[in-house]
Amino acid sequence: TKQPEVNKNSKDEQLEQYRVDDSGKSLTTNQGLKMAEDEFSLKAGERGPTLLEDFHFREKMTHFDHERIPERVVHARGYAAHGVFETYDSLEHLTKAKFLSEKGKKTPVFVRFSTVAGSKGSAETVRDLRGFATKFYTEEGNYDLVGNNVPVFFIQDAIKFPDFVHAVKPEPHNEMPQAASAHDTLWDFVINNQETAHTMMWLMSDRAIPRSFRMMDGFGVHAFRFINAEGKSHFVKFSWKSTLGTHSLVWDEAQKISGKDPDFNRRDLYDSIEQGDFPEWELGVQIVAEEDEYKFDFDLLDATKLWPQEEIPMQMVGKMTLNRNVDNVFAETEQVAFHPGHVVPGIDFSNDPLLQGRLFSYTDTQLLRLNGPNFHELPINRPVCPFHNNQRDGFGRQSINKGRVAYQKSSFTNNTPAPVSEAEGGYSHYQEKMEGRKVRARSESFKDHFSQATMFWNSMTEPERKHIIEAFSFELGKCQEIWIREGAIEMFTNVNLEMAQAIAKNIGVTPPTTGGSAVTKVSPALSIDNTIKSAAT
Ligand code: HEM
Repeated sequence: TKQPEVNKNSKDEQLEQYRVDDSGKSLTTNQGLKMAEDEFSLKAGERGPTLLEDFHFREKMTHFDHERIPERVVHARGYAAHGVFETYDSLEHLTKAKFLSEKGKKTPVFVRFSTVAGSKGSAETVRDLRGFATKFYTEEGNYDLVGNNVPVFFIQDAIKFPDFVHAVKPEPHNEMPQAASAHDTLWDFVINNQETAHTMMWLMSDRAIPRSFRMMDGFGVHAFRFINAEGKSHFVKFSWKSTLGTHSLVWDEAQKISGKDPDFNRRDLYDSIEQGDFPEWELGVQIVAEEDEYKFDFDLLDATKLWPQEEIPMQMVGKMTLNRNVDNVFAETEQVAFHPGHVVPGIDFSNDPLLQGRLFSYTDTQLLRLNGPNFHELPINRPVCPFHNNQRDGFGRQSINKGRVAYQKSSFTNNTPAPVSEAEGGYSHYQEKMEGRKVRARSESFKDHFSQATMFWNSMTEPERKHIIEAFSFELGKCQEIWIREGAIEMFTNVNLEMAQAIAKNIGVTPPTTGGSAVTKVSPALSIDNTIKSAAT
């Protein structure tokens, strides 16, 4: 489709060379052979069997037979659009990332919104977290901010992710229920993994049923690092703030819409962009100096904690506008491969154990989902800057790399790609000083699971609290095992006793009379020694 000139950007120009307009053309095979007939297979006699030599039938059917690829193991149901990110002011005092270092700089982006648990064909207005993944096509390579619409996550360590997802997805013996938040295995996981408390509060809140992708915020969740040209590091958390504000459905609406229009969220995004009513988000950053790492009563590396803005203010650094729908959902939305490890110079990782595991998981799954190691060559995944290295071959390889030598170092030729220094734009990792014992452990500073969950409850208005109680009651009310309901009530007394009592009454559990005592705050500064000590004893 012809796009208005105003939307042209470097990614769009790159994609242009891959767009194919088939309309009005002669029908050919994939070998370019024009065909005289496309409705009848080749037969031995008009009423006879089909012949093996019918290459046209075979090619057409084989391609069809192979049209599906595995859906994403999570975030399978998603919808995406193109747009642009514009930086407000230079952030070069914090990061050398070029796309953030120049006032007014524009960077093409591709954003995919998703639900987490449902399969590719599931309804959209379900109670779930929403994915909010952004690919910035920068001049220094692709930078992916792979976030959610909730600022915290269910678990603290990536090794639990497969367990968590197995608990959330339909139960294996009968593939039910499709609804993520309403079944025994999820709540069984929750009561046995109480680090889930804070994110479960968000999941039971109105934030988990956004009215529109355009009306939800996004969060990078983890602490990352900004590194400036002098090599100084700051911790950073990223947030997207919708300029339309956050708006939710009420549960009754969400359920009815699920039945009447399972495409409700994607239709809204598609239509608004087609109409020129472009959704916008501001990018916010919260910054903590390296020397302040231990200043807070929560651990900066714990993904179940947000950074309260009263303590760590948020600065808005740019605006993103989504202004163009995709031409082909499979080629773009389905084949896009996001990865929290796609970074550019000036952005680095923290030791958040959830983030660390994600850095492995995404490429690993994409090697299967996108069939081998060359999915970076797919049009939607290609960086807009040149890319060169000594990697070769593999399924579906498209580049024709010339020359005899594909290795480093070589005396044959000086033509093979070689690393460049930091001064010339080469990425080098932040040289964090590390010491500690090799342990399978969790820091003591990760063990307060309820303070921020209570903070969340306390920040709610009366109608919002009512919705949370109703959500718990509905979802827990679907649990068949009474001990799971009881366990959940006991757990959530640690968040708020009256809330737990109100839910208990609705789901046939004896209301508790005393509040929980599970709140254990441990300052990160103290816990470091504790981890080493506890491992040593
Ligand atoms: C998708 C793993 C936590 C946001 C995925 C996929 C995997 C995965 C395997 C499918 C990717 C693909 O097929 O292309 C994990 C693991 C996690 C984790 C192992 C924890 C250890 C998180 C967190 C967030 C998040 C904390 C948000 C901050 C997303 C999003 C997608 C996704 C938005 C969909 C990307 C898209 O639209 O293509 N994750 N994830 N994940 N994940 Fe995670």
